[in-house]
Order: sequence, then C-alpha cells, then structure tokens
Amino acid sequence: MGVLRTRSMGVLRTKSVEQSIADTDEPEYRLRRNLTALDLTVFGVGVIIGAGIFTLTGRAAATIAGPAIVLSFVVSAVCCGLAALCYAEFASTVPVSGSAYTFSYASLGEIIAWIIGWDLLLELMLGASVVAQGWSTYAVVLLDSLGITWPAALGPGGAVDVLAMLLVAVLATLITIGIKESMRVNLVLVAVKIFIVLFVIIAGIGFINPANYSPFIPPAAGGGAAVEHWYQQPLIQAAFGLEPTAFGVAGIFTGAALVFFAYIGFDVVATTAEEARNPQRDLPIGILGSLLICTILYGAVALVITGMLKYDQIDPKAALASAFTTLGKPGYATLISAGAVAGLTTVVLTLLIGASRVVFAMSRDHLLPPVLSKVHPRFKTPYVITIVIGVITMLVAGLTPIGRLEEMVNIGTLTAFILVSVGVVVLRRTRPELPRAFRVPWSPVVPIASALICLYLTLNLSLETWFRFLIWMALGFAIYAFYGYRRSRLATGETLVEMRSAHR
Ligand code: ALA
Repeated sequence: MGVLRTRSMGVLRTKSVEQSIADTDEPEYRLRRNLTALDLTVFGVGVIIGAGIFTLTGRAAATIAGPAIVLSFVVSAVCCGLAALCYAEFASTVPVSGSAYTFSYASLGEIIAWIIGWDLLLELMLGASVVAQGWSTYAVVLLDSLGITWPAALGPGGAVDVLAMLLVAVLATLITIGIKESMRVNLVLVAVKIFIVLFVIIAGIGFINPANYSPFIPPAAGGGAAVEHWYQQPLIQAAFGLEPTAFGVAGIFTGAALVFFAYIGFDVVATTAEEARNPQRDLPIGILGSLLICTILYGAVALVITGMLKYDQIDPKAALASAFTTLGKPGYATLISAGAVAGLTTVVLTLLIGASRVVFAMSRDHLLPPVLSKVHPRFKTPYVITIVIGVITMLVAGLTPIGRLEEMVNIGTLTAFILVSVGVVVLRRTRPELPRAFRVPWSPVVPIASALICLYLTLNLSLETWFRFLIWMALGFAIYAFYGYRRSRLATGETLVEMRSAHR
C-alpha cells in the first residue's frame, strides 16, 4: 500500500507508477481494451498526415525555406524521432491513458504533470480546431469543383464557419458512441489519405524540373520579405538583435519549427494506452511505426512539390492541389482536394479522442473536476468530457479567425516533448527496477539531445507565439493553484475505491 499511495503536500509530489496502473483497473473508470498494434499504427498515421503536409508545406516553402524545406522536414523528423523513442519507453513503462501527462506525474511531480497536461490540451484542442478549419477550406474548394457554391459567410473566413462546426459535431458524436467504431471509420479514411499522398508523389515525379531546385537554399532575405510585424519574427532572432530574415540557413530552422506541426500526432498514440490490448508491446510499435511511415512520405512530397514549381510560385494555401492546376491538370487537383477532405477528417477525429483521454486522466486524478471522467455505462467511453471538448472545439473552429495558430500548437507540443525526454532520465534513476518493454538506446544521451533539439525549435517560433503561450500557461497555473493543488487525490489521499463508496 505504501507504494500505491504517495501522500505529500508539495507541488513536486509524484504519483507512483503502480498507483497509476491500479487506477485503470477501477471498474467505473475502465475503458474497453480493443486496439491492436495495427490499429495503433493506423491511428498514428491518421492523426499525423493532415493540414501540415496539405497546407503548411506550401507556405513554408514559398515564404520561409524554398526547396530547402526538405531539410526542414529532416530536422523536424530527427527531433520527433528522438522524442518518439522517449515516448515509446514511457508508454511501455506506464501504460496508462493520458500520455505525457501521466508519465510526468510518475517522474517529475504533480506541477510538471499539470503543465504538460495543460500543454497537451493546447496541442490537441487547438490542433483539432485548426485542422477543422483547414478541412472546411478544402471542402469549399471541392464543392466548388462539383458545381456547388457554399455561401462565403458560412465558410472558412466568414462570420461563422458552419462547415468546420458540423464536422466537429459529427466526429464528437462518433467518438462518444464508441472507440472501435471510430477506428473503423478511421481505417477507411486513412487508406484514402495514404493513396492521395502516394498519388501526389507518383503523379508529380513526371513534372519535376531539376532547375527548380536551384538555388536549393535561397539567399537570406531581410526586412519586409521576412515578416509584416516585429512580433512575428522568431524569438531567437529577436533575442540576438538580428534583423528578421527569411530563407538562408536560418530559414531551414524556422521552417522546421513550423512544419513540426505536420509530425504532431505520434504522441497521441500514447493517449490510448488503456484501450490497447497489449500496450507494452504495441504502443512502441504504433508510435515509432507511424512516425517512420510519415517521415518517408513527407520527404518525398516536399521534394516533388519543390521540383514541380519554382518555390516562389508555390501556393501558400493548398499547395498540393494547386501545383497540378498550375501545370494543367485540374482533374488531379479535384482528386487531391477530395483526399484532403477525407484525410483531414481523421486528424480532427484523432485529436478529439486524444484531448478527451488527457482530460480523462487529469480529472481521474482530481486535478480537474471528477465528473468529467465519468464513463458511459453502455458505450464505455468518457462521454462527459467528450461532449465538453466537442463543444469547445466547435466554438473555436467556428467562431475564431485562426491564423498562425499552428505555432501555438507546436509550442505546446514541443514543451511536452522536452518534459517527457527529461522524465525518461529521471524515471530511470528513481525507479530503475520497473519493467521496461522498450528502452531508449544510449540513455541519457538520446533523451538529453531530444530535449535540446526541441528547445531549439521553440526558440525558432515567433515572439507572438511565445506571448500567447505565456498567457495560456499563466491561466493554467491559476487553475492549478485554486483547484488542483488542494483537490488532487495525492493531496487528499483518497483512492478511487474510497470515493466510490463515499458517493454511494
Ligand atoms: N500532424 C497533424 C497535421 O498535420 C496535426 O494536421
């Protein structure tokens, strides 16, 4: 029992791994264990390939890095690969819903866990809103090519983005009804998405003109070419008093910090730990497998697109479809838009699932109100939180003009990656005896390198992103100070069993 219950009042109190695992066995909080390694890999690919490759690649190539965007993808892939190793070790040691949040609760202490949980919410909920809006942009293009004109006021950029709201409403309903059913829909949509990405690569190869690759790293351009306002320049340039620049070698890293968005999602696989049949073995496969598949596809797409068009002619919005229209293949463009609509659907779906599972874990620990983590008696899904998250995401997606917010998603995720990497090293020291089905090679070198690269990428994000992020964090600290710190089950010492009998 001593190991099971860790009672302490400090903000660095940790929840033992045994306690975390024991909580998942409580009947009222138990989720159905349905998912296989293949489900998890598909789930990963489903959430990774999305707005990042379909839209950001164009913007980053045209305005930040030129053909060297391929190198930005490589830098980001290295960063994510190292972080993925750390996630895989943690997920195989602490196979509990909540991903990085739960890992850090076991190793770094409650306040850090809260910060990570708060960051993950930023990543997942804002990510779902951003991608839902991207989805509606593509949906309007697709409807247009089918001869249907969607009213501008009710579409992306209009007064209310009804299409984005509808998408979120349908998907939130789907995941309330059941995760296995969601996975089936996911499987079909992911297959369509991979087909479209392969189609872009194969159809595009014939259009490559090697002259478009030179200069591969366009010369650095300063001033107005780089940013419109001072607060849009990367923190690292502002900190060193440099003039804002686009392109050049610095552009590769600024580009990497932006296209990082395209890789986000492999970490979400870890949030489904309690629904995996054999989490210790299957989570590492799902996390590393999905990241590997996407890295290969992204490198190829980036090479093809920058080879098809001179970088300054690439459409910063719908690059993949527009490249074919420009080269006289509008039919291909329609097909790609249809694929994007299918593809972005799975991303929103998976981000919503991830967000609900993180809040599920936080509320089960009473850092957020416990009513949120109620599991539906028939559907066996955390329905209260799914509905709450669905409604918030719907409102953000439908009513807010989202622009540059991908960077907010990135900074939240990168911060979580840094803490997970550090957590691996800490847990190896504090609990060396725990069974680890997967171990990061070369620890502590790899986890430390992972944390440093992630940190470096955050410095390449804009000042405005940093300001917004600090406001979000201040809000999080306030909630922790006034709610979680006192109510936390680690503070009260209450177990789930005691709570259940008290509430009978
Ligand atoms: N990686 C996901 C996307 O690109 C979030 O849409």
